[in-house]
Amino acid sequence: MLDTEVRELMQSFVLSDYQVQEVYSRFYAEISKGLKRSTNAQATTKCFPTYVQDLPTGDEIGKYLALDLGGTNFRVLLVSLKGHHDARVEFQTYAVPKDLMIGPGVDLFDHIAECLAKFVAKHDMKNAYLPLGFTFSFPCVQKGLKEAVLSRWTKGFKCPGVAGEDVGRLLHEAIQRRGDVEIAVVAILNDTTGTLMSCAHRNADCRVGIIVGTGCNACYVEHVDQVDLLDHEFKREKKQVIVNCEWGAFGEGGQLDFVRTEYDVTIDNKSINPAQQLFEKMTSGMYLGELVRLVLIRGLQKKAIFKLNPRREEFATILEENENIFETRHISEIESDTFPEFANTRRICKQLFGLEKANVEDCQKLKYVCECVSKRAATLVAIGASGLVNKTFDRKVVVGMDGSVYRYHPKFDEYIRETMHKLVKPDKTFDIMLSEDGSGRGAALVAAVASKTK
Ligand code: BG6
Ligand code: GLC
Repeated sequence: MLDTEVRELMQSFVLSDYQVQEVYSRFYAEISKGLKRSTNAQATTKCFPTYVQDLPTGDEIGKYLALDLGGTNFRVLLVSLKGHHDARVEFQTYAVPKDLMIGPGVDLFDHIAECLAKFVAKHDMKNAYLPLGFTFSFPCVQKGLKEAVLSRWTKGFKCPGVAGEDVGRLLHEAIQRRGDVEIAVVAILNDTTGTLMSCAHRNADCRVGIIVGTGCNACYVEHVDQVDLLDHEFKREKKQVIVNCEWGAFGEGGQLDFVRTEYDVTIDNKSINPAQQLFEKMTSGMYLGELVRLVLIRGLQKKAIFKLNPRREEFATILEENENIFETRHISEIESDTFPEFANTRRICKQLFGLEKANVEDCQKLKYVCECVSKRAATLVAIGASGLVNKTFDRKVVVGMDGSVYRYHPKFDEYIRETMHKLVKPDKTFDIMLSEDGSGRGAALVAAVASKTK
């Protein structure tokens, strides 16, 4: 049984039904604000039109290159679309050193071009002149499929000289500077768009794409009449367009203040982008482990955990002195544990504190702390997902999902569904589907669509 101290410690993470409903209403209102030209400037969720207006049929064929920047890994991919809803993906992961993530943008793009050139050489494709889809997972104002102006960096990136610039042009220029490869950048897309497209390739009912990974964001298929920011010429022939909500920024107008905890405030203050991406900071992999670390420090100080352990203060010091020592993947590992073995929890306690065999009560408490943090994240994601499902015109909606948190956490899917069942309108049905390689297959599909519309 968990004692009252640990329940009190976690109370501020447990969202009441009232809070869930209230966040839902505020989120829904914010999306509507983002879609209207007259109110978009005040909206936190910018609802960028992506210019992707065709969903895949499954019949697409062809070979494409793709780049994936902005998730855990930077990757270069080669995708063969084979028709019959089938695709083959080969890829190579490359490191993006920390100094490039915050150094001059030119260096970052030179690095991307260098990796691309190495990949092309390795696959003997120097003269293949393949079209390339660039999955660039940051908020961009798109002017078309090929032009994407970065509005701000998010997650751990902060390269000067890129915000306000067209990243397609920056990539093109970096490729030109090398002069050893010929590649046409035919589409730039967000990873949520890639996720939606890759799921729609397999399931025609997919209308929403969500990432819960390093960052957190969603896109959905909206009727063109609802999207003020889309130019008229794009409304004539096609009736729909994918909208990149950039919901990670939700809360910047104070909408989430009534549910944010002191730990959320600390996370934000010490981040490289204070006052920005507040919803993202409560939901995504870059921050969840840190949230747990901060809560554990407070729990140790209050004797709510490791109450009887004489080394309690030492544990608190270890956690205080080592930012990011508690990783988001530890949350997934701890929540995968079974009573009374707690194999992962004990291993992690040994790793962090040199503690030989944590007792069962403390393991239970650690698991509870993790559950509260991840459940709140999943509930918030579900609120957003329900809002988008309810906004679509379709009765049956499949939500495509990806990202390390969603993929590896043992119960994230279950937590999300639980809340969605409460919020999705009764006349609708929904399902969630794991995306297979949004930045590869999805990018190739957008590139394929781009070649078709040319
Ligand atoms: C991958 C997608 O699987 O998930 C990427 O292909 C996406 O496009 C990524 O950016 C997000 O997850 P994470 O956890 O790597 O940030
Ligand atoms: C951040 C980015 C967004 C991306 C998400 C998931 O929120 O701003 O564009 O989709 O992370 O990677």
